[in-house]
Amino acid sequence: MVSMSFETLMAKKKELGRPLIMGHRGAMGTAPENTMASFKQAVALGVEAVELDVHLSKDGRLVVIHDESVDRTTDGTGEVADLTLAELKALDAGSWFDAKFAGERIPTLEEVLAWAKDVVPVVIEVKFNRHIEQIVQATVMEVERLGAAGNVAVISFDHNVSFGVKSLRPDWMSGVLYVGRLVDPVGLAQASKANGLLPMWGMLTPDQVEKAHAAGLWVGVWAPNTEAELKHAIAMGADMIGTNYPARAHALFDAAKAGA
Ligand code: G3P
Ligand code: CA
Repeated sequence: MVSMSFETLMAKKKELGRPLIMGHRGAMGTAPENTMASFKQAVALGVEAVELDVHLSKDGRLVVIHDESVDRTTDGTGEVADLTLAELKALDAGSWFDAKFAGERIPTLEEVLAWAKDVVPVVIEVKFNRHIEQIVQATVMEVERLGAAGNVAVISFDHNVSFGVKSLRPDWMSGVLYVGRLVDPVGLAQASKANGLLPMWGMLTPDQVEKAHAAGLWVGVWAPNTEAELKHAIAMGADMIGTNYPARAHALFDAAKAGA
C-alpha cells in the first residue's frame, strides 16, 4: 500500500506507469459521497487512495461529511455542529443519491480509518469553518489513537492546517489545496510544511510539476471528472488524480496502454 510520502508515491507511480487515482469522497459520481458504500466502491474500482471530509459533531466526534449542514446529503436538516453523533447516525445518507443506497449512514472518521487500515490510504480534508482549530486537534488525536498516521495525509484549503499538523507531528503527511495559478507553489508548500500540492485540476502546468518534484513534493489534482478534464490533468503530469469517477480514469489508462 502507498504511503503519502513523496518517495513512496513516486515509486508507485513509476511501478504503475500512470498517475495514482484518488477516489474523491469515495466514488461520489456513482455512490453517495463520504459513505462507506462510496469508499468501498472506490476501492473496488481500483483507486490507490480515498479522499474524505471531516467535521465535528455537537458532542465532539469526528464525522465524515462534506457540508457544514446535513441538508444536502441526508434526509435530515441542521448544522453538523448542532447535532450529536446519535442524531447524525439516525439520518439516511444514501437515499438522496439513489434508493438502492437507502440506510447508508454518515460514518465516523474512526469507522473509515479502521476499515481502511491495510486496505487503502486515506486523504483527510479538514474543512475550513469556524470550528477548524478543534477539528484539527481532534483529527490528530483520533489518527494517533487509532495508530493510523502512516496511512493518512491531512489536507486543507486552510494552509494553517498543514502547518499546525506538521508542527505537532513532523513525520505525518500533509497537503495544501488551492484554486489559482500561484506564482510560487513550492514556496507555499514550504511555508506550510506540506508534502504535497493539491491544485484544482485546470490550474496545473507542467513546469509546476517539475518544480514540485525538484523540491521533493508530489502533486495531486482535484477533481477532473469528464474524459477531457482527466486527459488534461494526466497530460499536465499530475502524480495523483482525485476524481469522482475512478472507472473513467482507468478506462483512459487502459486505452492509452492498448494504443501504446
Ligand atoms: O480533494 C480536494 C477536494 O475535495 C476539494 O474540494 O469541495 O470537493 O472538498 P471539495
Ligand atoms: Ca474534499
